[in-house]
Amino acid sequence: MKTASASAPGKFVILGEHAVVFGKPAVAVAIDRRFKCTVSKSDRVTINGEENALALHPHILSVLDVHGHPYIEITTESDIPSGSGLGSSAALAASFSFAVRSLLGEPTDSEAVAKEAYEAEYSVQGIGSPMDTSASVHGMGIAVNAPEPENLLWRVERGKNVWDICGLDVPEMTFVIGYTGKKALTGPLVEKVRRYKERNSFAKDIIDEIGTVTLEGMDAIKKGDRVKLGDLMTKDHKLLSILGVSGPELNKLVDAVSDYSYGAKLTGAGGGGSMVALTDEPEKVSKAISSRGGTPITVKTGEPGVRAE
Ligand code: MEV
Repeated sequence: MKTASASAPGKFVILGEHAVVFGKPAVAVAIDRRFKCTVSKSDRVTINGEENALALHPHILSVLDVHGHPYIEITTESDIPSGSGLGSSAALAASFSFAVRSLLGEPTDSEAVAKEAYEAEYSVQGIGSPMDTSASVHGMGIAVNAPEPENLLWRVERGKNVWDICGLDVPEMTFVIGYTGKKALTGPLVEKVRRYKERNSFAKDIIDEIGTVTLEGMDAIKKGDRVKLGDLMTKDHKLLSILGVSGPELNKLVDAVSDYSYGAKLTGAGGGGSMVALTDEPEKVSKAISSRGGTPITVKTGEPGVRAE
């Protein structure tokens, strides 16, 4: 094979971001926006036609490190805004890992790709959980560290933390994402929470509380209980705000949709990025997000994970 292409979806987090870094439960869902990588054998390494571009693309560099730095031409395309909290770097790592493995005739099973993509994310951020990369590789929905793991996909361990990643059926529900337009880097936000937790037992209590809210949310998702799930999402937003990862742009969009949604919260790392609302009135929510300067994205769930193109 001389050329291989793969794509992988972005994601949003229904509940549990940040706390999941410390081994707490979380729920994430793939979205119908994808990152695509195409790789071809060559006599040098180029990224989108540029030589010497690897320093600007650390996820790509990390995956190439594992595969002995083959000479390849790499092209990327994406409709996931970077720094939006919607998992664009995880989708890059997942699609690139799959494409390189296909080109080199190496296994492309989901567990191998998920673990390699997580290593790439981790090496770039220096901290973080395998939630985003697992959601991108598996697609659909995933539950991390569910109390009674059903449909276990893979387990990831790092230091004291263990993450059991399970496939999750998310019943038909309508979510609308609101992108603030403000880019935010995940690594520094996760590091900020880690430092807060280390220095302050109150922060540890908030992280434990996010874990409890998420477990209740997993039960509400199973039962299709939108009212309960919405309440829990709003509560989670408040807990995340106490941890210091929300911001005025996010709070403005969360407040703007409150009359038309069961609940809303920041999604992903925060600090800008995106929020998400659970609603039966997606048009009204989208309008409220636009009127406050955000970009609405109505989510179609059931999006497949990483795949050959
Ligand atoms: C970012 O999408 C999710 C965080 O929990 C970071 C992580 O899990 O690595 C904030």
